[in-house]
Amino acid sequence: AALVEHTFVVSQIKLNHLCNETLVTVVNGQLPGPAIEVTEGDSVVVHVINKSPHGVTIHWHGVKQLLNCWADGPVMVTQCPIQPNNNFTYRFDVVGQEGTLWWHAHVGCLRATVHGALIIRPRPGGSGSYPFPKPDKEIPIIIGEWWEISPVELEKGIAKGDFTDLPRSATINGKLGDLNNCSGVIEDNYILDVVRGKTYLLRMVNAALHSEYYFKIAGHTFTVVSADANYVKPYTTDTIVVAPGETVDAMFVADAPPGRYYMVLVNSKTIEGPVQTRGVVNYIPSKGSDDTPILAPEITGQDDATTSFYFHGNLTSLPHSLMRPVPRNVDEQLLVAIDTGYTCEEGDPTCGPVSRMNNISFQLPTTTSLLQAHYYHNMSSSIREFPGRIPPGTVFNKGRTLKATSVRRVRYNTTVEIVFQGPPDGIVYSNPMHLHGHDFFVLAQGLGKYDATKDVQTYNLVDPPVRNTALVPISGWTAIRFVANNPGVWFLHCHFEKHVSSGMGMVLIVENGPTLETTLPPPPTDFPSCDDQSGGVAY
Ligand code: C2O
Repeated sequence: AALVEHTFVVSQIKLNHLCNETLVTVVNGQLPGPAIEVTEGDSVVVHVINKSPHGVTIHWHGVKQLLNCWADGPVMVTQCPIQPNNNFTYRFDVVGQEGTLWWHAHVGCLRATVHGALIIRPRPGGSGSYPFPKPDKEIPIIIGEWWEISPVELEKGIAKGDFTDLPRSATINGKLGDLNNCSGVIEDNYILDVVRGKTYLLRMVNAALHSEYYFKIAGHTFTVVSADANYVKPYTTDTIVVAPGETVDAMFVADAPPGRYYMVLVNSKTIEGPVQTRGVVNYIPSKGSDDTPILAPEITGQDDATTSFYFHGNLTSLPHSLMRPVPRNVDEQLLVAIDTGYTCEEGDPTCGPVSRMNNISFQLPTTTSLLQAHYYHNMSSSIREFPGRIPPGTVFNKGRTLKATSVRRVRYNTTVEIVFQGPPDGIVYSNPMHLHGHDFFVLAQGLGKYDATKDVQTYNLVDPPVRNTALVPISGWTAIRFVANNPGVWFLHCHFEKHVSSGMGMVLIVENGPTLETTLPPPPTDFPSCDDQSGGVAY
């Protein structure tokens, strides 16, 4: 196994889009940031040098961080921010995972522009090779969004219950595409050059804050081979669906007549926001003239939630050496209602909406991280136990909400099942629920209200997909299961920024096991101090 070392300099640069110069925070002057490429089993060292005016942390989304919670990164959950002009070195191993993951800032809305891919290839002597034909080329496709509002202002708005700010456009590898223009200036397309007959592996990451996206290339179909760095049985589709936080690896063969084809992102089922963003698949050598029309795909309607439901429901895991069997006995089942509510009586104009889980709107601590408090037996008495059941009589989207830092403790090696229940109707998007520190099996999803006696019959206990983000369908539910075998403090939250920033989250504390090998070691010596927090997190 090798040591892969990177230096991430976080700083602000000016980018010009839509006729405006905007100050954005990026890593190493790039948007998207640098891709980290490793072989399974490698150790990764990333020196983060913060030259931005914000407090910064980086999360390695999907990396299990076994016994290494200190490197996980969510601000005030595992660590205090790296303050401006300070440094911190993240050290972690990438073991037992292959495929595409990613990294992003985990402070406020900073991840809008502080993100990049983390690519894990099979290790010779480990699993050895891809369980699918070797592609001729691998291409990261990072889906992002262009916001003109600063992340600080955006975060402030959300915290006040103002959800009205919207991205100006979706982006493909940082490009806004030719449907965006102002004063006659057309934005850049992302162009993917292909050679006829060759096979391409797209490593797709949805790094966007706001939307789930559908992705199509005119005249081509995909074979999905992996999701969230877990192999799936080859699944053929003309539309890929990626929700925020999710990754999908998909192959396509350049088997169409030579020409130019649009690749299109459509945001699914949101009322407002960007509608379409395009890039181009260009066959080379090209015919010479640039005025041959570019073929556009037929577009799935924005209101088409069915495509997302079936895309997610049709994935099954590929039996593989890295895979574990589905645990049969559940030690602890949580029923978790995810919705939006109010902190005062409905109709009171003085309080805006908050997001919540089981009627608690999650608040980050302000003085020390939960992990440090837990490790040093210093938990504040104001911390609440997260209830394992939907409060009786819960009326979705209504009723008073408690604001609290809510945690749930589980013993080492507990098998946990969580059923996420979305609101019955009126909510127009699916919710991508992301768990840190563990992958889980997605056993089933359904529409309407979860019915324990009936719905357990639909559980896939044979080959359920393994993921780190579970999409809870519009007006429906999703059931996940995992063994809590990673001692530490792990954030569980919706990956829509407006939801997590307004409280749709909770923290799972996995206790140490009985031996030294199952006990969380002490923090690294250069761990960011919580002393200079002067009145909360400095964004
Ligand atoms: Cu990708 Cu807690 O997030």
